[in-house]
Amino acid sequence: MALISWNESLSVGVDTFDDQHKVLIGHLNALHDAMRNGKSNEIITKVLDGLVKYTVYHFTSEEKAFEQYDYPDADKHKAEHQFFTQKAIDLQKQFQAGKLFISVDVLNFLMDWVQNHILGSDAAYRSFFAGKTVKAEE
Ligand SMILES: [Fe+2]
Ligand SMILES: [Fe+2]
Repeated sequence: MALISWNESLSVGVDTFDDQHKVLIGHLNALHDAMRNGKSNEIITKVLDGLVKYTVYHFTSEEKAFEQYDYPDADKHKAEHQFFTQKAIDLQKQFQAGKLFISVDVLNFLMDWVQNHILGSDAAYRSFFAGKTVKAEE
């Protein structure tokens, strides 16, 4: 499975969110590395925690900007965020309970989802945010 590397084709035209997507992809790649290198459960737990926390932070940043500017597709977009957050939290819980091995399928799912979301729903807000100031969530 290929690691994702951020490149211009993933740009959504909002610097704040491009920067956050780079960090989010970094968390996914860290999980991929930890799995490939057979890292301990303790380390994988930390990497998963980091991924979940950053995912929530990033989604919150986008959603605050949607609210601030009254983005018309906010509800549908937020539902997608909720779906993925729940999925990531479920994986985290299953892993902690010893019921999940972070498999290639799990990683593929996470990476594909994030990539498709950036290229689809996130890229869709490009023209809406053009010329608007978007700050990262504190
Ligand atoms: Fe999004
Ligand atoms: Fe995003």
